[in-house]
Amino acid sequence: MKAINPLNVARSLATFMLALNHSTVSAGVTTNAQLNLAKTSGSTLSLNISNAANQVWVMQSSSNLTSWTTVESLKVFNGLYHRSYTNSAGNSVFYRAYFDGAGQNIASLTTNALQLPATNYNYAAPVLPTNFLVNPILAEDNTPANNTNTDAGAMLGRALFYDRRLSTNQTIACASCHQQAHGFSDPRQFSVGFDGSVGTRNSMGLSNARWYQRKHFFWDERANTLEDQTLMPIQNPIEMGMTLGALTNRLAAEPFYTNLFAQAFGSTDVTTNRISRALAQFVRSIVTTQSKYDLGLTNNFANFTAQENTGRQIFFGQNGSRATCALCHLTDNFVQTGGIDNNGLEFPYVDTGIGGITGNAGDMGKFKVPSLRNIELTAPYMHDGRFTNLEQVVEFYNSGVVFNANLTPPLRAAGGNSALRLNLTADQKTALVAFLKTLTDTNLANDVKLSDPFNYGN
Ligand code: HEC
Ligand code: HEC
Repeated sequence: MKAINPLNVARSLATFMLALNHSTVSAGVTTNAQLNLAKTSGSTLSLNISNAANQVWVMQSSSNLTSWTTVESLKVFNGLYHRSYTNSAGNSVFYRAYFDGAGQNIASLTTNALQLPATNYNYAAPVLPTNFLVNPILAEDNTPANNTNTDAGAMLGRALFYDRRLSTNQTIACASCHQQAHGFSDPRQFSVGFDGSVGTRNSMGLSNARWYQRKHFFWDERANTLEDQTLMPIQNPIEMGMTLGALTNRLAAEPFYTNLFAQAFGSTDVTTNRISRALAQFVRSIVTTQSKYDLGLTNNFANFTAQENTGRQIFFGQNGSRATCALCHLTDNFVQTGGIDNNGLEFPYVDTGIGGITGNAGDMGKFKVPSLRNIELTAPYMHDGRFTNLEQVVEFYNSGVVFNANLTPPLRAAGGNSALRLNLTADQKTALVAFLKTLTDTNLANDVKLSDPFNYGN
């Protein structure tokens, strides 16, 4: 039965665009869909479907608007679909696309829903440089013995990470707020959740999340493990607004998922525990070890410019630099290994951070010290995204640290009763920013094994 037949006709040789908002009724569920047919060049027509319910649509063509031929039936796999049609004959052709309520029987199989290589990518054993195989970085690895990465497990996690089904109205994926091009962070100060609401914290980059010795996640470390963390945004009322029961039912209804679960965990059962473990495996696969800094480690920084080397010395407190960056952003992962810190962003505390979780006066205004890997890509900065660029961050550490009872000692001036001032010159500040940019791994944004695997047409 065609519940609604929204006729959307575009003439391929004309320069107009038709967009249509409408509701489709399918199996008792009403969903909004948007259809857009537009001529993109002389003889090319593009069809875009935005349809959170992942339904099947029919594309037809006609030369006389009377008799219509089905070009193809299109299954939406993850909310969006786009396809181009070329009319090489040179005559006028009309197109329409419509929702076919009766034709919803194209299944989401692994082969059509996802674009995967014949053999799975290597997630289980990434090639790591030698400094990652020994302490201190070895000790930072937070992979639990019962959830080591497998190729199939991380692949399942990759599909889940990019899948809008994880949010209640199927509009938001993990990747909406953790974007590959931005170091798996969000360029917006505050991410937007499934219903348009915003939170109060800036999304965190996920580079080398596998290496955090304290094993806790979030700015306030409220997740004890990455496996615990991965289920939290799904249920968060602002972020994805989903219940775990509804999610397991929804995923179990997709043949491509039961297949991926079987490959990853040996049976088709879709469970909360498996979802959490697969997502954690994918996040631990976001490994970045090919920055300019990594190369520099192998050649005594001969690949650095003079300015980058000046910045490096400032960062590490060498050559008279008063900066103490490396006392909190430690190891070649530039992450805290021991404690939690207050870096003097503000007092009184607007966000009490870890103190809000533990209730201890000494923890107020303290936060997880995130890794600085790919920091260039993850703007804006700090838990509230207050700084839009690295120049502002450096100026803050240079002259803006606010003294407070919990300010971590490396950021206190001699005597301990006031905030440290670095007194950097303009050139030194520029050099420090240049050094921070050597932590960028330009391969990360294009690494296909970390990219969106869904098939959106062409
Ligand atoms: C609506 C935006 C949004 C969505 C959706 C979202 N996140 Fe996040 N993510 C954030 C924000 C904001 C934070 C920091 C929140 C905080 O610390 O309170 C964060 C933090 C994290 C962290 C902590 C990183 C660290 O170093 O401690 C991980 C891991 C993470 N998210 C993974 C995921 C995964 C996996 C999903 C999907 C299941 C997901 N996120 C969905 C916005 C989002
Ligand atoms: C006392 C420990 C400490 C020192 C010293 C320190 N930091 Fe930080 N850094 C932190 C903490 C804690 C945060 C997170 C604070 C927050 O968001 O509330 C942070 C955050 C950052 C961020 C933003 C990270 C992000 O993902 O948004 C950058 C960039 C940064 N620091 C660079 C530096 C540089 C450069 C120096 C030296 C000039 C430095 N830090 C010195 C503790 C420190």
